[in-house]
Amino acid sequence: MNVTIHHSRPLIGEFQAPGDKSVSHRALMLSALANGSSEIHNLLDAQDTHSTLRCLQDLGIKIRREGSLTIVDGRGLYGLTEAMGDLDAGNSGTTIRLLSGILAGQPFTSRLTGDDSLRKRPMNRVIEPLTMMGAVLDASASGTPPVTIHGKKPLRAIEYRLPFPSAQVKSAVLLAGMYADGTTAVVEPIPSRDHTERMLGLVPEKGARDRTLRLRGGVSIPPRLYEVPGDFSSAIFFICAALLVPHSKIVLRNVGLNPTRTKALDLLMSVGGRIRIEGHNEAAGEPYGTISATFSRLEGSIVIDPATLPLVIDEIPVLAATMAAAGCSFEVRGANELRRKESDRISAIVRNLQAMGVTTVEYPDGFAFESKNDVLGATIQTLGDHRIAMAFGVAGMALKGEMTIRDAEVASVSFPDFWKSVNQFQ
Ligand code: S3P
Repeated sequence: MNVTIHHSRPLIGEFQAPGDKSVSHRALMLSALANGSSEIHNLLDAQDTHSTLRCLQDLGIKIRREGSLTIVDGRGLYGLTEAMGDLDAGNSGTTIRLLSGILAGQPFTSRLTGDDSLRKRPMNRVIEPLTMMGAVLDASASGTPPVTIHGKKPLRAIEYRLPFPSAQVKSAVLLAGMYADGTTAVVEPIPSRDHTERMLGLVPEKGARDRTLRLRGGVSIPPRLYEVPGDFSSAIFFICAALLVPHSKIVLRNVGLNPTRTKALDLLMSVGGRIRIEGHNEAAGEPYGTISATFSRLEGSIVIDPATLPLVIDEIPVLAATMAAAGCSFEVRGANELRRKESDRISAIVRNLQAMGVTTVEYPDGFAFESKNDVLGATIQTLGDHRIAMAFGVAGMALKGEMTIRDAEVASVSFPDFWKSVNQFQ
């Protein structure tokens, strides 16, 4: 499906971001391992979370919907049963990496696979620590899925220092740590999103030089109610659209405000974005509140350094597209990780910005462009990546001329109603 976007009418009023994807995956997995039934309110209803849900069902977990609640009948740490066939994580890196951590501790063998994009993504990052813990994992020669996991009971507790910041790797090791015969430690020199440790009730060790988390094996997970906040990484598309389209003023309620996720707001405010954050609340350990954004004349440049990158890792496409559409400058370096997402995001962003007439320099580890005023609509190749599709859709709302987004249906990976929301203002 191609979607053609024209300059948008002002975005006015209230918007609802769908449930947080990272929190939804984790709530499903931890509920499955709890001793009893948990309820999840506002679970993200999108392709990626369906992948996690189906994998857990294939592992013998009963899950049902009742209105806005998802009820998961947890069977305890050792209640999963061997799946009949492959577990299909679809497009979801979080599903395959976090489930690998759980499956490493099971007394049976599993095989995890995914779609064409996921089967190109690196798994050695989780294979290495899970092997140190005693599980046996086989992937393709290049370290990509399918991955066969011969679980080990119990796993060996390790101290693992993350070689690069990754919440998925951190989470895989912590989840495996629940099945270990002692205390597992994860040390992260550069912090990444912290949803897993919040849900497990872990607090970083005081006085440690680098952020250190410790988890004792054999913990029992109590059933509970999980409140999933709106996904900041989805809300950001409307925040950026409102900043770009004259006369816009929008309010987004109940959006997740976890500080390991919201750095993009500081960056946008630093270039003149009129953004307000109000009403800090907390539910199930996750802060949330209201964000309002008003049309702004963005000016200047955003430069992303390596310590900031994990805090805006999913927002780079929309930040770059927004800065380009506003005629501003942008630079990100030290960001090899962007080449390992749902697409090679460095190459996808550079190629699409070039099509819009923005001269962009591509580096092995990033890209940069200078401010420019006559940015044009173009035909955008989404390369199967939901965030590339939505990011350039936002730019299209602010530009003169037409922006055609190829294979726009890929937005359903995280935000099934995205194009419907955009259409309201066309
Ligand atoms: C995620 C972690 C990040 C992020 C991804 C979701 C998570 O990946 O890009 O969309 O839920 O843990 P990395 O851990 O690979 O950086």
